[in-house]
Amino acid sequence: MVSELFSVRGRVALVTGGTSGIGYMIAKGLVEHGAKTYIVGRNPDTCSAIATELSAFGQCLPLAGDLSSMPGVEAVASALGERESMLHILVNNAGAMYDAPLGEFTEQGWDDVVDLNLKSVFFLTQSLLPLLRAGATADYPSAVVNIGSMGGTRVGPKENYSYQAAKAGLHHLTGSLGKRLGGENITVNAIAPGFFPSRLTQIPDEQLPAILQLVPRRRLGKEDDIVGSVIHLASRAGSFITGAVIPLDGGMTL
Ligand SMILES: NC(=O)c1ccc[n+]([C@@H]2O[C@H](COP(=O)([O-])OP(=O)(O)OC[C@H]3O[C@@H](n4cnc5c(N)ncnc54)[C@H](OP(=O)(O)O)[C@@H]3O)[C@@H](O)[C@H]2O)c1
Repeated sequence: MVSELFSVRGRVALVTGGTSGIGYMIAKGLVEHGAKTYIVGRNPDTCSAIATELSAFGQCLPLAGDLSSMPGVEAVASALGERESMLHILVNNAGAMYDAPLGEFTEQGWDDVVDLNLKSVFFLTQSLLPLLRAGATADYPSAVVNIGSMGGTRVGPKENYSYQAAKAGLHHLTGSLGKRLGGENITVNAIAPGFFPSRLTQIPDEQLPAILQLVPRRRLGKEDDIVGSVIHLASRAGSFITGAVIPLDGGMTL
């Protein structure tokens, strides 16, 4: 049955950056479709408040932590390990952006973005492998879904050097991990979003018409778009897809 093929009911999920923007949309979708979903964000109060809000739709739990450093990554992984014996869906979504003219680009603006958008994804996935392996079967693999960006596929107009490099690296890392972990019944894929409304994008109203002219679908991304893609990859329906980078940009990178 199609509904069973695309089901995530009863699965355990972790969404980093689930307190805002795209991560919030993903967490809400997973909760609504029956996954027990943990969300990570830096602020414990915000994390708890959002988890309470999303619990109106199902099971959502806060797991506050800062993924920008190795101790933070390890703390999140061990906190999940204390609560769960297996993890079926890991969505590496937390991300930051920095842009500055080439001559003024700072080391901090490089490190902050690359550490969170690329390094933390690798080490959080590594730390959670025992839980991902515990939940994986040949028929129903565990799924890692990395949120990349169209900025990692095509060079955009912004001078966000560390962001574009980190996202391009994340897309390639997705292939490396997918190749390594496929035999262990763990799929690893990336979704490369175009413009979705969020704190990170903040498109001024007057610029919206010009931006939409660049998008063949003539709209921004919305919750159903990202939830549909994540559920496809995380459910049994996606079990033969691994190492893929799926554009979710309304055709903007064509
Ligand atoms: N929106 C778009 O158009 C777009 C397009 C392409 C790709 N993306 C990607 O989508 C992902 C989500 O972006 P967004 O637009 O939804 O941004 P957002 O609204 O700013 O959300 C970022 C999320 O990451 C969390 N976060 C930030 N730093 C963190 C840290 N050090 N440790 C743990 N969590 C942290 C934030 O929570 P706290 O602030 O509470 O920590 C928040 O939940 C990013 O990877 C971004 O690159 C977005």
